[in-house]
Amino acid sequence: MKIIKIKLPKIKDRRGNLSVIEKDVIPFVSKRVYYLYDVPSGAKRGGHAHKNLQQFVVALSGSFDVILDNGKTRERVTLNRPDEGLLIENGTWREMENFSSGGICLVLASAEYDEWDYIRDYDDFLKFKTQ
Ligand code: TYD
Repeated sequence: MKIIKIKLPKIKDRRGNLSVIEKDVIPFVSKRVYYLYDVPSGAKRGGHAHKNLQQFVVALSGSFDVILDNGKTRERVTLNRPDEGLLIENGTWREMENFSSGGICLVLASAEYDEWDYIRDYDDFLKFKTQ
């Protein structure tokens, strides 16, 4: 499956680095931002797909793995830098694990929170992909 990692601008100076996620860098307008933090070692997040939502995920600090599954193939992507993000298109099953200590996962989402957009059962996801 296609893994879409997007490099973000990194503006370096003696005071530190600055990265920016600006309109046109990701293919949707962000309507919501949330972040995962204090994730205990061994915890797994995600375990669902979205019917319509698109997301852009950045490891702001530390690292974690994202497992992407399009119903046919499954790939593991490690995110470990704050100047790069992973685009998760709608209709993609995702799991997140192997959070490092202090790992922070920033998520930009194309829509507001809507539980009806979630597919939380893997068999339902496979049915959704073949309909
Ligand atoms: P969930 O999306 O299942 O978390 P993850 O995929 O990261 O493991 O969300 C966990 C809980 O938080 C769930 O009860 C819904 C709630 N939630 C909100 O209220 N608003 C949000 O924007 C998000 C992402 C989750």
